[in-house]
Amino acid sequence: MPRTADPADVKTAAGSLVGHAAGYVAARTIDIGLRNGLFHALADADGPLQATEFADRLGLDELYAKVWLRSAHAAGVIDMDRGGYVMTSAMSVALLGHDHPAYTGSLFGVLGQPELFDTFTDRLRTGERLWWDDCSPEFIAAVSGTGRPFYNRLVPGGFGQVPGLADLLGGTCQVLELAVGAGTGLVRMAGHYPAATFVGVDGDAYSLERTRDRLEEAGIDDRVELVHSTFEDFEQPDSFDLAVINISMHECRDLPRVAANVATSLRSGGTFVISDFQFPADDDTAALRAPAGRVMSGIQFFEALIDDQLLPTQAFVDLLVAAGFDDVSSFDLSPVHAITHGRRP
Ligand SMILES: C[S@@+](CC[C@H](N)C(=O)[O-])C[C@H]1O[C@@H](n2cnc3c(N)ncnc32)[C@H](O)[C@@H]1O
Repeated sequence: MPRTADPADVKTAAGSLVGHAAGYVAARTIDIGLRNGLFHALADADGPLQATEFADRLGLDELYAKVWLRSAHAAGVIDMDRGGYVMTSAMSVALLGHDHPAYTGSLFGVLGQPELFDTFTDRLRTGERLWWDDCSPEFIAAVSGTGRPFYNRLVPGGFGQVPGLADLLGGTCQVLELAVGAGTGLVRMAGHYPAATFVGVDGDAYSLERTRDRLEEAGIDDRVELVHSTFEDFEQPDSFDLAVINISMHECRDLPRVAANVATSLRSGGTFVISDFQFPADDDTAALRAPAGRVMSGIQFFEALIDDQLLPTQAFVDLLVAAGFDDVSSFDLSPVHAITHGRRP
């Protein structure tokens, strides 16, 4: 191990490490705030809240409240105004706005789950993998939260950018969703497209139970049929006008087979929409080191545990072209989110 180096370079290296530690502190601070309703209290307040008043309102230990407020202020998530603490409306939307396309708060819940980093560390040497039915209900709920902003961007804005879909979805149509997870997408799509009917497929029985509950709560269970199957084994020839899969195509065990099954299941002229992360190429240092690339690199720890990896968007474009789709194209909806789509001839 080298024991000497240019002092200026060492200082820069140490500075970058401190930056990473600062990001960790910020993420933990945000997670505490979200789990305990601390941000909601600030967002709902009429004006700046002094630390004492904040602690009183929420029934918190005053010293702990002060420590948390200071750290959230240090992270730039809350601000100070006239000696009290406030949250800007923009930060409230980004952190707490469940239905907004820029909703980012759900990321912190998933980062704190043991399935992400702890299980990976435990299995670093054995390489033992896991699958969704090994994951806790808390993890599945947290992942569903992470999928939410993807659906918020996709429905209706992202679909609206795919040729023909706004008109299609405005009328009677049959939609296939692969990877329904805990049902967030079905509830959102059914709400936006009242004349559409849906078939939702997932390989995880627990997730389908959650979906069933949510469809009943939303009163839309009569418009949705749920199927417990792997995507590799699901095919319903010439049945759908649109097939969609959100943040899950990269998880397929056999991508060409799933693309072929979707092509068979679509009617002629039907559209396949893959809504997924857009992971940079391994040698794209600038993209990997941008905040989006760094967060997605963290998600890759869990993807490795379930034996896959997030993919560059080009992989989905190539997949749809190889599967014989027409008019294959892609576009970005955010720095982490891309849409790839193609039409069945
Ligand atoms: C990351 S979650 C996403 C769920 C949902 N689309 C969302 O955004 O909230 C992935 C889901 O896909 C399912 N899944 C992944 N690969 C599958 C496969 N090959 N066959 C069936 N289900 C699969 C898992 O069971 C899990 O519920």
